[in-house]
Amino acid sequence: MDISKLMYRDSLLTGERILVTGGGTGLGREMTEAFLKLGATVYICGRRQKKLDETASELMAEHGGKVVGIGCDIRDADAIHTMVDTIWADGGALTGVVNNAAGNFISRTEDLSVNGFNAISDIVFRGTFYLTLDIGKRLIKEGKRASFLSILTTWVWNGGPFVVPSAMSKSAINTMTQSLAVEWGRYGLRFNAIAPGLFPTDGMSARLSPGSQESGSGGNSNGRMNPMGRHGEMHELANLAVFLMGPGAEWVNGQTIAIDGAGYQANSGNFYQTLSPLGDAEWDQMRAMIKNTNAK
Ligand code: HXC
Repeated sequence: MDISKLMYRDSLLTGERILVTGGGTGLGREMTEAFLKLGATVYICGRRQKKLDETASELMAEHGGKVVGIGCDIRDADAIHTMVDTIWADGGALTGVVNNAAGNFISRTEDLSVNGFNAISDIVFRGTFYLTLDIGKRLIKEGKRASFLSILTTWVWNGGPFVVPSAMSKSAINTMTQSLAVEWGRYGLRFNAIAPGLFPTDGMSARLSPGSQESGSGGNSNGRMNPMGRHGEMHELANLAVFLMGPGAEWVNGQTIAIDGAGYQANSGNFYQTLSPLGDAEWDQMRAMIKNTNAK
């Protein structure tokens, strides 16, 4: 990310304590960097402790401040509870939570097994709720305010052909966002979401456009189909995340905001056009490439 393109003063998030799930890589890492640069203490969790430690060290070397990596698979509610205990013991309540951790791969739905469905929905649907519930209960009990932000997709509005477990799960989190914004608003807990278009990351490219010449194309060439002729840039996502998490936006609650260059309005933002022409051989090949990525 070009950190000089953040829109805010450096002390904007001083005193904030933010957890970013899946913060070791991809979009989660970019948001972590922005929060850190603006003064927040940031906790990042993910399945690979080594990756988290690397990210925390690199970001602190560059910006100072404090990033703590905690290994935690959010599919495991007990592991979440232990992690949140650790965070609370390290300095008290969180003031912000970014539900960013996700899993996804393209597949014809008829090729999915129950395990394949669960591999995605256990992370995105169940894991996100487990984490939100654990932290929400503590905040309510202690009378503390906080901002929750979930990273979704425009598929929550029109469906996601060829990524049905992800689309179903993220739609559920969209519903959670709207529901808890209302139910827990009285406690000073607010819930918003971002629906990003294509922001190229390695994890997404390998599972959503395997074999593509271009990183992050999502089966969508090089962004030329987007009205603005390009993919998103990380600082653009980070600026929106900071705005929604930061002080001064407290009355923004229950919203899901797209950041996709109007790709959703132009071409539905999903995979229908690019993936529906594919035949058995092409799907076999892509499935093998995705599984090879998962195995690494
Ligand atoms: C069909 C597949 C498959 C594929 C896996 N499975 N890949 N089925 N097609 N391509 C099936 C397996 O056969 C198995 O079922 C089951 O899924 C579990 O597979 P594992 O590889 O053992 O799962 P696991 O190791 O838990 O991997 C989790 C994962 C993986 C979600 C599948 O992709 C992962 O770890 N992803 C994390 C990072 C990630 O996905 N990033 C991209 C997010 S992008 P059987 O029946 O054989 O046992 C994103 C953005 C969306 O969300 C918005 C974009 C605009």
